[in-house]
Amino acid sequence: MSIKYQSQKLAEYFYTFAVVLFLVQVLVGIIAAVQFIWPSFFILNFNTIRTLHINALIVWILTGLMGATYYVVPEESETEIWNLPLAKLQFWATVVAVTAVVLGYIWMGLSPQANSPIMGVHPLNEGREYIEAPRWADVLIVISVLLFLFINFMTMLKTKKWTGIQGTLIGGLTFLALMYLPGMIYMKSMVKDQYWWWWVVHLWVEGAWEVIAGALLAFMLMKVVGAKREVVEKWMYIEVGFVMFTGILGTGHHYYWIGTPGYWLWVGGIFSSLEPLPLLFMVWDAFRTTREARNVENRAGLYYTVAHAIFNFVGAGLWGVIHTLPQVNKWTHGTQITTAHGHLAFYGAYVLLVMAMIYITLPAIRGVRAFDASRAFASFWWMTISMVFIVLTITGAGMVQVYMERLMGLDYMAVKANYNLWFWILRAIFGVGFLIGVMIFVVDFFRLGREPLPAVSPELKQA
Ligand code: HEM
Ligand code: HEM
Ligand SMILES: [Fe+2]
Repeated sequence: MSIKYQSQKLAEYFYTFAVVLFLVQVLVGIIAAVQFIWPSFFILNFNTIRTLHINALIVWILTGLMGATYYVVPEESETEIWNLPLAKLQFWATVVAVTAVVLGYIWMGLSPQANSPIMGVHPLNEGREYIEAPRWADVLIVISVLLFLFINFMTMLKTKKWTGIQGTLIGGLTFLALMYLPGMIYMKSMVKDQYWWWWVVHLWVEGAWEVIAGALLAFMLMKVVGAKREVVEKWMYIEVGFVMFTGILGTGHHYYWIGTPGYWLWVGGIFSSLEPLPLLFMVWDAFRTTREARNVENRAGLYYTVAHAIFNFVGAGLWGVIHTLPQVNKWTHGTQITTAHGHLAFYGAYVLLVMAMIYITLPAIRGVRAFDASRAFASFWWMTISMVFIVLTITGAGMVQVYMERLMGLDYMAVKANYNLWFWILRAIFGVGFLIGVMIFVVDFFRLGREPLPAVSPELKQA
C-alpha cells in the first residue's frame, strides 16, 4: 500500500513532532510522580514539571490530529494538498512557537521573576492550567491554526467532493479553533474567568475533540476493515450529534462550586450523566464493524482502533460519570479521583486515537504494505497495563483522600505525605512501565517500514 497523493507525506512531519513531545511528556510525568514522594527532586519544581507534562500532552495530541487531517483530507478530496509549501511553513512555525513556549516555561522554572509582567502582561506563562502559553504565543497559535484550517478548506474546495467524514472532521477542527478564544478572555472576577476557561478545557475534550474522534473512527474503520462508507458515516452522525447534545450543557459539571448560579447543578448533573452514551455507541460501532472482518492486513491498526473506542468509553465515560453528579462531586472535586479520570480519559480517547491513526497511515506514507507489528503490540500492552494500574493506584489514593480529608477532616498535607505515600510509590513504578511502552513505540515509529520483515512470517511481503 502506498499513498495516493504525495503531499499526504506531510502527515509524517506532524507525527514526528508529536511522538517526540509524547516522550517528553511521559519523562516529565515520571519526574512529577517522584516529586510526590521526594518533593525536592530535580532542578525544576513540581509547578514547572506539571505545566510541561500537561502542555506537552495537549500540544502533541493537537499536532497528531493536524497530521492525521493532512492525511485524510487529500484522500477524501482526491487531490493534493492545496499549497504544500504553505502547509510546511505552518508546520515549522508550530514547531518554533511550541519550542519557544517550552523554553519559556523552563526559564521561568529556573528564575520565576523572569515572568514578571511587562506592561501588565506575563511574558512566559499565563497561569491558566492546560493553556498556560503566554499571549504572544496565543496569537501565533491562532494564526497557525487558522492557516491550517484555511489550507485544508482550500484543498476540499479544489474538487468539492464533500464527504461526511471530511466535513465532520473540518467542522470539529473549526469548533476546536473557536473554543481556543474563550481562553484568551481575561476577567477580573475569578468566577467569570473560570467560567470561560472551562469552555476551552471542557468543550475541547468533551466536544470538539470527540467530534474529530468520531470522524477519524469512521475513516479508520473504512481503512482497516473496508467498512462501507454509508454505514460508518450514518453512525458517525449519530455519535457526534449525541456528543454535542450531551457535551455542551455537560460543561455544567465544572460549574458546581465556582460561584455560578445553582441551576448548573441540575443542568450539569443531567447532561453530563448522558455523556457516556455516544462513547458507548462508538464502542458498539467499532465492534459491529470489525467483528465480521476477515483477512485484515493491518492488525495493529485494527487493534488500536478498537482499543481507542473501548478506552474512550472507560476513561472518559465510566471514570467520568462516577464523579459527575453534584452529590458525588461535592466530595471528590479536585482530588486524585479527578486525576485518575484525567489520565485514563486522555489516554483512551486521544493518545490511542493518534496512535491508531499513525499505525493506519504511516505504513502507506512509508510505502510498505505489511510491517512487523510485534513492537506495536508490545508497546500497546506495556502502556495499557501500566496506565490501568496508574489509574487504579490514584483512584485508591483519591478514595483515601476523600475519606480522610473531606470526611474525617484531616489536613491535606498529612494525608498526602503519610497515608497516601504507598500509592505514590506504586504510581511511580507503573509510570516506568508506561515509559517502557512509549520507548518501544518511539523506536517502532522511526523504524516502521524501514527494515526487512522477519523471516518467520513469510506471508507478509513488502510491496
Ligand atoms: C475524552 C474525554 C475527557 C477527557 C480528556 C477528560 C479529562 C478531564 C480532566 C483532565 C479533568 C481535570 C480538569 C482539572 O480540574 O484540571 C476532568 C474533570 C472532570 N471530568 Fe472529564 N474528561 C473527559 C470526559 C468526561 C466525561 C464524559 C465526563 C462525565 C461523564 C467527565 C467528568 C468530569 C468531571 C465531573 C470532572 C470534574 C472533576 C472535579 O470536580 O474535580 N469527563 N476531565
Ligand atoms: C499518556 C499518558 C499520560 C497522560 C494522558 C497524562 C495526563 C495527565 C493529566 C491530564 C494531568 C492533569 C490531571 C489533573 O489535574 O487532574 C496529569 C498530571 C499528572 N501526571 Fe500524567 N499523564 C500521562 C502519563 C503520566 C505518567 C507515566 C506519569 C508518571 C507516573 C504521570 C504523572 C502525573 C503526575 C504526578 C501528575 C500531577 C498530578 C496531580 O497534580 O495530582 N503521568 N497527567
Ligand atoms: Fe468536563
